[in-house]
Amino acid sequence: MSSSRRQFLALSASAALASAASAQTKAAPLVKTKPSPPGTPPSGPYVLDPLPYAPNALLPHVDLLTMEIHHGKHHQAYINGLNTALQGEPGLAEKSLEDLLGGIPFLPEALQTPIRNHGGGHWNHFFFWNSMGPAQAPGIGGDPADPALAAALAKDFGSLADFKKKFAEAATKRFGSGWAWLILKTDGHLAIVSTPNQDNPLMQGLVPNADRGTPLLGLDVWEHAYYLNYQNRRPDYIAAWWNVVNWPTVAQRYQAALAALSKK
Ligand SMILES: [Fe+2]
Repeated sequence: MSSSRRQFLALSASAALASAASAQTKAAPLVKTKPSPPGTPPSGPYVLDPLPYAPNALLPHVDLLTMEIHHGKHHQAYINGLNTALQGEPGLAEKSLEDLLGGIPFLPEALQTPIRNHGGGHWNHFFFWNSMGPAQAPGIGGDPADPALAAALAKDFGSLADFKKKFAEAATKRFGSGWAWLILKTDGHLAIVSTPNQDNPLMQGLVPNADRGTPLLGLDVWEHAYYLNYQNRRPDYIAAWWNVVNWPTVAQRYQAALAALSKK
């Protein structure tokens, strides 16, 4: 008997056993659900929110096609992966995403990597879309108008220009794919950190303690965020991105993070 024939018969036998097991399972279903077509990701508990502005609203700094693919394809894929990981895990699906990301080492081992990558991807991108706005809108780009935030940036980095320079350096030097962040640390100081892949400063036990804190601003430096318009010129993308930074939102996050710190 040929090798391929033996393999076929072995696979057929496996399929028959699987079918029998499936039939037994179907005889007494624990949960009655309508089966999805093969390959369909589970819907929920997470869904893709629309962008908080039109997909062409960040032109010319972030192009339309990049926004459509980044949001509609990449972000959606992270949500699909997260929903798949949480399938059959109702206890975890009820938790907030922040709680899941903050305690990844305590999750079942098989879920740790999917939730780190896909949960991190969902959280980071939701945060990213809301960190930006149309350059023409009030408060977007330029310097932060909020006096408390402006003073804190100057105090912890020397000046706003120094902050932007250091943040851009962190984003530029991130090897491969990842993120640059402005965070508020538990000591009340601001810091600039960078994380690989879809990690973020919420991830206890995965991100070094020195890089952990409450994110206030995040910049995606995966190539999918800029390659169509900027190709290999990541520094040009970063320089343009300052024009769409949503400073009012960053200021709100800063106030909320300070308030949370004061309650601890
Ligand atoms: Fe991205």
